[in-house]
Amino acid sequence: MNKLRINLGSAKVYFKDVTYVTLLSILFISIIFQFSFREILLFSFLLLIVDFLLLYRLGASKRTELEQLKTILNSIRKNEYISPDEIKLGRNLYEIEGAIKAMFLRTQNDIINLKKLEQVRTEFLGNVSHELRTPIFAIQGYLETLLNGAISDERVNRGFLEKAARHTENLNNLLNDLIDISMIESGQMRMSFRYFNIKEYLTELVEEFRPFAEEKGLELKVGSIKNNLQVFGDKKKLRQVLVNLLSNALKYTEEGGVEVLVEEEENKTARIIVKDTGFGLSEEDQLRIFERFYRVDKDRSRAVGGTGLGLAIVKHIIEAHESKISVKSVLGKGSEFSFALKK
Ligand SMILES: Nc1ncnc2c1ncn2[C@@H]1O[C@H](COP(=O)(O)OP(=O)(O)OP(=O)(O)O)[C@@H](O)[C@H]1O
Ligand SMILES: [Mg+2]
Repeated sequence: MNKLRINLGSAKVYFKDVTYVTLLSILFISIIFQFSFREILLFSFLLLIVDFLLLYRLGASKRTELEQLKTILNSIRKNEYISPDEIKLGRNLYEIEGAIKAMFLRTQNDIINLKKLEQVRTEFLGNVSHELRTPIFAIQGYLETLLNGAISDERVNRGFLEKAARHTENLNNLLNDLIDISMIESGQMRMSFRYFNIKEYLTELVEEFRPFAEEKGLELKVGSIKNNLQVFGDKKKLRQVLVNLLSNALKYTEEGGVEVLVEEEENKTARIIVKDTGFGLSEEDQLRIFERFYRVDKDRSRAVGGTGLGLAIVKHIIEAHESKISVKSVLGKGSEFSFALKK
């Protein structure tokens, strides 16, 4: 009795249509066959039984379909499916099955992406704390040694203080890089584009690195550039890019030198190239050096004050110029970093 009630309840939406069809059938058939009043009553009674059976069947099948949908949605909610192929509905619900599968795939992807983001965030925090700890421990070590008596030892006191000072400088650089990265990645980098003379700009900038290059006995030069060549970009941000590329080139080169070149390209762009004859990079490293905190040789890089954030910042800034930073390198021979600017 309960089942009968539920099935008929599920068929409620069909009541109106079935009633219309029934009334119309009674009317037409009675007219066509010129039924007497008694025959009309009998015919109506027969139709009533047919309607009843029909509604019962329709209600039952509708209820099964709704139950199926409910089970599937519950299983998705409880994360019971691994693949969308496990989602199966009756033939009539083919389209809904497709829609649910698409929704399932989308949610699955969202979850995967969220997990990845979470992992990147954890790694980032781990790296940041590790990088902060290194200079802080060093500074702490030098200061404690000084306090424990080394302060009056003329042979080491100055050297220890200088080392501590160098580590505070590293700490400061790291913090500045972190602030840059977080500003850039949260979309707060304000760009200010204009045309400027690239020859003057590069010549001036490269001169700042002359003392460092001379100290290492490296050659440093700017290739020939057309006097009036103008390029389009954010001068201040590009300075950050070039400072990073030039200091890398000089840091990771022991013999030979560094050259900055500008090549004009066909599609109205000029390519700025920073080329060195340094350690070079393996193909695998070339793919990874733009990741945050990635360093090929951590000890060597840290010894020269690197934290591995420089190229990540470079990549962001160049992308904000709608360009792409490229690297070509041969291990042991040297590297070439370049990007194109509109001219
Ligand atoms: N010109 C280059 N020649 C050889 N290796 C390079 C060169 N430029 C970068 N690398 C490698 O890529 C790594 C990542 O460079 P990146 O500039 O991001 O970091 P860093 O120089 O170590 O530190 P930071 O720039 O943050 O002070 C470096 O540690 C270095 O191993
Ligand atoms: Mg660097």
